[in-house]
Amino acid sequence: MLIAIPDLLGPDQVRRYRDALSAAAWVDGRATAGHAALKAKHNQQLAPDDPLARELGEVIVQALLAHPAFMSAVLPLRVLPPRFNRYVGGGSYGFHVDNAVMNVPGAVLRIRTDVSSTLFFSDPDEYDGGELVIQDTYGEQRVKLPAGHLVVYPGTSLHQVTPVTRGARLASFFWTQSLVRDDAQRRLLYQMDQAIQSLTAKGGGEDEVAALIGVYHNLLRQWSET
Ligand code: NI
Repeated sequence: MLIAIPDLLGPDQVRRYRDALSAAAWVDGRATAGHAALKAKHNQQLAPDDPLARELGEVIVQALLAHPAFMSAVLPLRVLPPRFNRYVGGGSYGFHVDNAVMNVPGAVLRIRTDVSSTLFFSDPDEYDGGELVIQDTYGEQRVKLPAGHLVVYPGTSLHQVTPVTRGARLASFFWTQSLVRDDAQRRLLYQMDQAIQSLTAKGGGEDEVAALIGVYHNLLRQWSET
């Protein structure tokens, strides 16, 4: 399931982040690429232990955990600390699938990358190219969202970032281990949650809404792992 989550960050927050990132210590993204990705990856990143990356990352994680659409769609168990990248001057990242399991920096903890996220810090008219192209079971999706917006998609997807031929594309990206490993099960829970919320907003019968919420939680009990 691929969904766009608008306005994770407001315009003031986006401006503060961009100011901080413009003065950041960018390094060659290949420093964190696996062997197979070395040839495909042409971008810049902040080092994972960069204090700015940690500080901004914590604000992003707090915003995620307070956002109903992210919580409903992703059902997060653990979020890997957000990373930051920049594509300029033809930079790109060819088709790849992200590593299935990643180490949490500075901790004896690994997470399974069930859900991938990209948070945009540049508006679409500020750069040419730089589309996030995701191959899903429903075909190819091309994603380029306004600054402050987030896209979430299954970690199992083949994806690429097309060359940025004008301007700069700034983003944060990160992975989440979900309570529910399977994308199809997460999708059913998300659809059910949306339907329950819509029914509640329309003043649907209290008993029926309570029954559906019960089914939702009992499905989550069946499918979740912690
Ligand atoms: Ni990737």
